[in-house]
Amino acid sequence: MHRELIQLDINGERRELAVPPQKVLLDVLREDLGLTGSKRGCDDSSCGACAVLADGVPILACVAIASCYQETRIITVEGLAVAGEPTPIQTAYGEAGGSQCGFCTPGFMIAIHALLQHNPNPSDEEIRETLSSNLCRCTGYMQIYESVRLAMRRMEARSAQPAAVR
Ligand code: FES
Ligand code: FES
Repeated sequence: MHRELIQLDINGERRELAVPPQKVLLDVLREDLGLTGSKRGCDDSSCGACAVLADGVPILACVAIASCYQETRIITVEGLAVAGEPTPIQTAYGEAGGSQCGFCTPGFMIAIHALLQHNPNPSDEEIRETLSSNLCRCTGYMQIYESVRLAMRRMEARSAQPAAVR
């Protein structure tokens, strides 16, 4: 099978690999790079389980041709933590019971992280709109919503602290 050499910036690391020209980013992440956090949850671009950040914006990796993203900074769920420290939504999610089987969790993490980076104090409507882009078949969304609220409270408390104790 014909392959082409591409370079991708994944979680802050430049990776070079030979892939079929039409291979989607999700398959490259999972099959070629061993980054299995992003999931394939549907066949019709409707579940959001495959979401990753492309220059800070969530995209569906299941329909993104990998070679088109060579100039883009890609962050997967494995790369969300900064210097080993989980993001507020990663911590809050576990505490508020946002995850049950966990299959949808990586996609929600990406979507919510992007929302809170862009707007640390989103309205209920903005939170609901963000959550509506991802499917969870277990939780009924209330715990996920509560996770976002908890993460927001933590971020607010943290930003109120003097810089020396953050
Ligand atoms: S696997 Fe990408 S949207 Fe479902
Ligand atoms: S926790 Fe199971 S699909 Fe969401």
